[in-house]
Amino acid sequence: AMIDKGNYRHFMAKEIAEQPEVVGHTLAHHLDMANMRARVPDGIDFATLDRLAISACGTAFYAGLVARYWFEKFARMPVDIDIASEFRYREPPLKEGGLAIMISQSGETADTLATLRHCREQGMQIASVCNVPTSTIARDSDAVLPTLAGPEIGVASTKAFTCQLATLAALAVAAGRARKVLTAEDEFRLVNALIEVPRLMTETLKLEPQIERLAKTFAHSRDALYLGRGTSYPIALEGALKLKEISYIHAEGYAAGELKHGPIALIDEDVPVVVVAPFDQLFEKTVSNMQEVQARGGKVVLITDAEGAIVAGETFETLIVPTSYAFVSPLIYAIPMQLLAYHTAVFMGTDVDQPRNLAKSVTVE
Ligand code: G6P
Repeated sequence: AMIDKGNYRHFMAKEIAEQPEVVGHTLAHHLDMANMRARVPDGIDFATLDRLAISACGTAFYAGLVARYWFEKFARMPVDIDIASEFRYREPPLKEGGLAIMISQSGETADTLATLRHCREQGMQIASVCNVPTSTIARDSDAVLPTLAGPEIGVASTKAFTCQLATLAALAVAAGRARKVLTAEDEFRLVNALIEVPRLMTETLKLEPQIERLAKTFAHSRDALYLGRGTSYPIALEGALKLKEISYIHAEGYAAGELKHGPIALIDEDVPVVVVAPFDQLFEKTVSNMQEVQARGGKVVLITDAEGAIVAGETFETLIVPTSYAFVSPLIYAIPMQLLAYHTAVFMGTDVDQPRNLAKSVTVE
């Protein structure tokens, strides 16, 4: 069937808006909602695995970075993760019988495919988190964990990313249960948190008018910084990537704690600093980094929830997303990242769905 933009100005806008629905489909596939369990894919025995390798490129790599926190925390598995173009050339010591997870929207990215083949040659089992079931990466995998995002047309990945997160979150919970790190009660609580995500995403999308106004400030910037800690760190990286991909504004994502080791030198009133900070265990630390930015005249855009907004006090702008379990916050906080990049690019008049020099699927090394 022909895919069209419907009533949206760009595919990217349509794909951002589709997220509650497609993340819901993806979760329904990977969770057994009747029994509040996460499904373990056929042929993967987490109880006997002692570590994981994860590899991907671009936005898919950031989904992998988030997943590392989840696998370590919920399943107590060490995770070796690297971008695909580096992974195989590093020649990491891999283990026969170990599990490698490749993440790819298209399933055709040359570096990810080469890494898959490298891991296979080392005797590893391959699982892929993939949006195109007929793709080369999906066909070459022992287990395919589908993301049910539907066709993604905008070059900058949006709904595929949150569906990758949903899939990996379910997998990490399944691994935790199989390895007896999580009790049935823990699993119930985490599955319940995941089930709430589509509704929270719908709520989060209501920030669009506020973000559209904010984008006008961004459109006049030459540089922007994005900061986060824990699972919000890869979301900061993804926010910076989205902005540079489609608005061509130079943006960098940093771990909030690294601010002092370099990027703080860039701060002045012309550099907006996006701080991704759900009110979780790391909140106070991130806010103290935020205050260092403010003390130097930096323009802080804080993305947090209602509790966080009260504690953080005054900022240049605060975007308040719905309160969620800390576990699922990456799925929620990804949305303001996408909307901010999108509206900045629209305001600047760039070709949002087909940004210069970029390809949807990179099939050369
Ligand atoms: C390109 C796309 C990105 C994507 C990356 C990895 O750079 O523009 O949006 O994240 O490739 O693609 P994949 O299909 O492997 O997820």
